[in-house]
Amino acid sequence: MGTTSVDHIDDLEELFHHKLAQMYYTEQELVEALDEMAINASNDRMSEGFADHRDETRTHVQRLEEVFAALDRPAERRENPVLDALEQERATLEDAIEDDDMLNMAYLNAAMMTERIEMTSYEGLTTMANKIGYDNEIKKPLKSNHDEEESTYRELSAMETASDMKSLWDRLTPS
Ligand SMILES: [Fe+2]
Ligand SMILES: [Fe+2]
Repeated sequence: MGTTSVDHIDDLEELFHHKLAQMYYTEQELVEALDEMAINASNDRMSEGFADHRDETRTHVQRLEEVFAALDRPAERRENPVLDALEQERATLEDAIEDDDMLNMAYLNAAMMTERIEMTSYEGLTTMANKIGYDNEIKKPLKSNHDEEESTYRELSAMETASDMKSLWDRLTPS
């Protein structure tokens, strides 16, 4: 599936649409990324977490389609260099890291970073939607996505310090 790019944006509605289309691309790419990470992560808790969020992310894609429909515009994938950079870094780490536990922890940090970026993106879209005066048909799906990114971020963050991760950290930090 291709992407579109942008030449000029001269009003807030167009900026909203641009960011929405970038999110549509991002969420679709993240379904694939989370699927690969669920397979590659050797830690069961992490692997299950990635698989669960992959399924949620499929719903994020559908909710964005609802927003495009409410705007009466076709769903559009717009290139997003932020997502591309995250994916490039993931590929670099996968090539560079041989130790499974090290890769698990690299994934955990990458996933938390991604959720924060998604949260901030939805916050920006919501701010613009409020300023433009869009109704709940547009704002509600954005909020639902945002809230699921936030709870995923919290779950990932809890994993970092969870007792069942302790042996993994211990292995990576020999004294
Ligand atoms: Fe998402
Ligand atoms: Fe997410």
